[in-house]
Amino acid sequence: MINVEAFKRMSYGLYVVCSGNQNQGNGYISNSIFQVTAQPAQIAACCHKDNFTAKIIQKTGSYSISILHNEAKTSVIDKFGYQSGADIDKLKGMNVEYGGTGVPILLNEAIAWIECKVVKTVDVGTHLMFIGEVLQTELLDKSKQAMTYNEFKENKQRTAPPNAPTHIEESKASKAEKSGGKYQCQQCGFVYENNKEDKPFEELPDDWTCPVCGAPKSAFEEV
Ligand SMILES: Cc1cc2nc3c(=O)[nH]c(=O)nc-3n(C[C@H](O)[C@H](O)[C@H](O)COP(=O)(O)O)c2cc1C
Repeated sequence: MINVEAFKRMSYGLYVVCSGNQNQGNGYISNSIFQVTAQPAQIAACCHKDNFTAKIIQKTGSYSISILHNEAKTSVIDKFGYQSGADIDKLKGMNVEYGGTGVPILLNEAIAWIECKVVKTVDVGTHLMFIGEVLQTELLDKSKQAMTYNEFKENKQRTAPPNAPTHIEESKASKAEKSGGKYQCQQCGFVYENNKEDKPFEELPDDWTCPVCGAPKSAFEEV
């Protein structure tokens, strides 16, 4: 049994992952960045195959991670997280520095950055997981805290778009929340309450039946 609400209890950060060089550079917002080993220091970035940035990382073999602070401007997140470099030049007019590999590093709204060289690419279906060895890092602002994905969702009133690994679980969960989470059997009056069950009503299989009277799922109506 999979209760999608459990996924929402996981913690994530919020980052801008950039790749390319001085001639062509791009970046995307990611919440799926994590350190996989300490020695050597290696970090994984999970990037959708359709992301414009995925192609650039594959081509150049390096990427940078800018760690956003918890009051980062919405405009930066909107540009890098909801638009594609296939359509616009995201780095134009931004404050960018270049790493030893030539990779662009976004400084806007960042408190630290990490430059990585790809050492392994794992095909995980919809996404490519780029495992990168850390080449250098820099701390830009000690006074600010990193933004968490939960803070982003609460403060910015937004969720991750389809290319984010967290997207499907979130959309199912928010659907369950919006419905109020209560469904009543029109045959016997039994009320199925999502917050008392292991699985939200929306995710029960079509052949599920009322535990009281055996009526089909279709006999239930939202309360
Ligand atoms: C909060 C948030 C988290 C995201 N996390 C990821 C992620 O971890 N991996 C991913 O591939 N896309 C993620 N995305 C989606 C990409 O940032 C988005 O599809 C972007 O437009 C891709 O840009 P590109 O085509 O220029 O590379 C996320 C977006 C947001 C707003």
